[in-house]
This record gives sequence, C-alpha cells and structure tokens, in this order.
Amino acid sequence: MKFFIDTANIDQIRQAHEMGILDGVTTNPSLMAKEGVKGKEQIFNHYKTICSIVDGPVSAEVFATDYEGMIREGEELAAIDPKITVKLPCTKDGIRAVKYFSSKNVATNCTLVFSVGQALLAAKAGATFVSPFVGRLDDISEDGVALISHIVNVFNCYGFQTQVLAASIRHTNHIIRCLDAGADVATCPLSAIEGLLKHPLTDKGLDTFVKDAAKMQ
Ligand code: G3P
Repeated sequence: MKFFIDTANIDQIRQAHEMGILDGVTTNPSLMAKEGVKGKEQIFNHYKTICSIVDGPVSAEVFATDYEGMIREGEELAAIDPKITVKLPCTKDGIRAVKYFSSKNVATNCTLVFSVGQALLAAKAGATFVSPFVGRLDDISEDGVALISHIVNVFNCYGFQTQVLAASIRHTNHIIRCLDAGADVATCPLSAIEGLLKHPLTDKGLDTFVKDAAKMQ
C-alpha cells in the first residue's frame, strides 16, 4: 500500500519525506486555506514547493464546481508540474471533467466519494484515483473501511485500473484496517503515520539495550 500525506503543510511534508516512506501528497481547499496562502500566484507557488519535495503524485483540487471551470482550472494545475494530479469532486460535472482529463492522459483524483456507485462512475470515466472518505462516514455511524473493501472488490472483479485512495484517515487504526481492506493508497495525517511506529515494547527493549550498552563503555 502506498502512503500519501494528507496536508499542505510544507514542514510536515518534509518530515514524512525524510522518513523515506512518502509516496505522494493530497491537498484540498480546506488544507490549503490552513496554510494561509491567498491568490493564484501564492497557491501555485505552494504546489511547486510541494512538488519540489516529493517524488510522487501531488493532488491539487479545483475550486470550480462547473464543468468549464473545472477544465480551465485543472489544465492550469496540471501545467504546474508533471507530478500534479487534478482533484475533482464526484459530481456530474466532476465525472465529465475526469473523462476529459483521462482522455488527455492527465492524472485525476475523484474526491468526496462516499458510495460504491460514485466510485464506479469515477472508474468508468477513467479516474487515476478515487478518494472514499473513511473518517467522515465513521462520523455518521457508517463503516468507512467497509466501503473501501466494497470498492476494492468491485474494481478487482471488473478489472478497473483506478486506484482506491483511502482518505479522511483520522488515526493509525484506520491505516491498518485499510491495509486489510486492500486499499492501493492511504492518505494520512503525519500523526497517523508516526503512530505506526509506536510500541511500548520497542521503547522498553531499547531502554534495556541502552542501559546494558552503557555497562560496556
Ligand atoms: O483528503 C480528504 C481529507 O483531507 C478529509 O479529511 O478529516 O476533513 O474528513 P477530514
């Protein structure tokens, strides 16, 4: 499973990259707004900075909700860097835009996916990635990881090449469960990725090794 980091924060992206486990980045308008960027120049420069750090796909989401606006914005985003993946909402216009970009071999990430039906249409339109939002489904007492499993099974059954990118990951256990569900990618907060490292027996064991090593100094 690939690890993407779900943030527009440059420092956190650098930290994840320096761990040597980062395969890509996802952003969205809310994550970008948190970084205080304003206007096209600052926004595009921020994407350029992200692309200069990571080696893999960088999802940049359009702001437009109409087809023509999505195409206009998506083409500008794609022109920033070959690593840019155009992120489009799973709406009628968004699916049309996915089809447009997939016909031009521009990578796409269909986002705000909450059902198998939505994922199916995105895959049929040729999306590179679909982003089912695990955490937001859990927030309303549905089972976000069950949706990941369902989509993975449907894509495998019908041979879709679209990658399932588990999004809205809130904690380490979401990552583990998405592994079991067969997600191609999990896009995570840095804290959830770092949580994979934590185990008290590792800390306890290292503490003992350090103390015993000191006896030999
Ligand atoms: O990639 C989508 C993700 O950023 C949404 O996360 O926690 O706002 O549901 P969250």
